Amino acid sequence: MSDKTSIVILAAGKGTRLKMEVPKPLAPLEDRTLVDFVIDAAKDLGDIYLVTGHQKELVEDHFQKNWSSLGAKFVNQKEQLGTGHAVRTYFEQNNSANTYEYTIIACADTPLITKEVLESLTREIKNGFDAVCASFVLKKPQGYGRIVRGEKGFKIVEQKDASIEEQSICEVNSGLYIFKTSYLKEHIFDLDTNNNSGEFYLTDTCKINKNVKALTFEDQDLFLGVNDLYQLAVAGIRLRKRNMMELLQKGVRVIDPSHTFISTTKIGVGSLLYPNVYIDSQSIIGKNVTIEPGCFIKNSTIEDGVHLKAYTYITDSIVRASAKVGPMSQLRPGSDIGEGSKLGNFVEVKKSVIAKNSSISHLSYVGDAEIGSNVNIGCGFITCNYDGANKHKTIIGDGAFIGSDCQMIAPIEIGESAYVGSGSTINQNVPSEAFAIARQRQVTKEGMAKKFIKKK
Ligand code: UD1
Ligand code: CA
Repeated sequence: MSDKTSIVILAAGKGTRLKMEVPKPLAPLEDRTLVDFVIDAAKDLGDIYLVTGHQKELVEDHFQKNWSSLGAKFVNQKEQLGTGHAVRTYFEQNNSANTYEYTIIACADTPLITKEVLESLTREIKNGFDAVCASFVLKKPQGYGRIVRGEKGFKIVEQKDASIEEQSICEVNSGLYIFKTSYLKEHIFDLDTNNNSGEFYLTDTCKINKNVKALTFEDQDLFLGVNDLYQLAVAGIRLRKRNMMELLQKGVRVIDPSHTFISTTKIGVGSLLYPNVYIDSQSIIGKNVTIEPGCFIKNSTIEDGVHLKAYTYITDSIVRASAKVGPMSQLRPGSDIGEGSKLGNFVEVKKSVIAKNSSISHLSYVGDAEIGSNVNIGCGFITCNYDGANKHKTIIGDGAFIGSDCQMIAPIEIGESAYVGSGSTINQNVPSEAFAIARQRQVTKEGMAKKFIKKK
């Protein structure tokens, strides 16, 4: 038999107390779901099996969409008769279950577990145990299975079955275990439902006088179980705190860590984050980036030296080195802001590429555009990109100058180093180096104002 490990994630439960429409494994946490965190911690250590039951199609779909490279291995637990029954079902439905030397059992509702914890369990079992269970100590252990240690081995007594004396034990079962597969298989089919829940308890496979070990972890945060919306919120706080410590240690300056919401670890040294900044787990932030209050960044790359001014909203976009954006700009999906370029207040960009050192400093909408380098666009610029049915492109060449209050009726092309006069509505292409102006000539009539000024 090889040294192979399988990881069985129990994800068949409904999660009634969460009061959500989605099954518990898919409860949203940060920008992912509960079960994603468990899969992420486990994926490098062996083959993953997911025990699904309640709304299994949703859970399996999610797995296939997000973790297709891991291969889909599902176990269908039609009735949820307990954690022991879930594991028994895994053995019944998988002939390959026996080919693994070790079997890790994890729950879908403990999103704070880490690869390191799983590795410690694996190291420990290699010292010759048949099972190792991760335990921790709580001041208020209510609800958890208690670890009752014998001279050799230990057993786990569930809250509902515990005597007064057992209830006072503060060491509890995390629900995370590694077993020698042969031991687990031998005991999983012996379980019964003679307990106060009438369920098959996986925990009954740990026994006094057997060669089993409860490995105590100091950090109880690792095993937080999510059963209701309060615990879901706490899990988010703990995850971000863990992330925040990593960023601070690495040299990212955060003015107020408790009011800064960061899910990515990819932020470069020397960057500075003001309070109330949100950054999702898919975003990458370079070195020496300044992000002022209220910025929201999703699935985007912000390169070195960028300055994002307050309340800038960025999704699915890239801001290249040393660019300045905001305050109060919006970069909608597909925006690519070139190195050293500058977008000012109330500038909205969508699906547009802006090359190097260009400037759009005030009150503009840039959609479906390609704007060259060293372009200057004045205040109040609008690409009229949509005709009610289709989107059209605006192309502006390098070095062009567009005066304030211009509209570009797309499709339209402005050549390199062209000059468009202020207040123009441009609907014909402008060649390179040409000057274009498209507005009414001014009419001025002496003394005529009094005809128009109304008196109250
Ligand atoms: C379990 C442990 C308890 C431990 C606690 C840690 C047992 C009997 N008890 O209790 O000792 O302290 O976890 O959080 O194992 N599930 C299935 N199929 C089932 C039943 C459950 O897939 O038939 C899944 C659930 O979806 C969940 C996980 O197993 O992800 C744990 O089940 P849950 O009912 O939450 O167990 P606890 O009562 O918390
Ligand atoms: Ca639980």
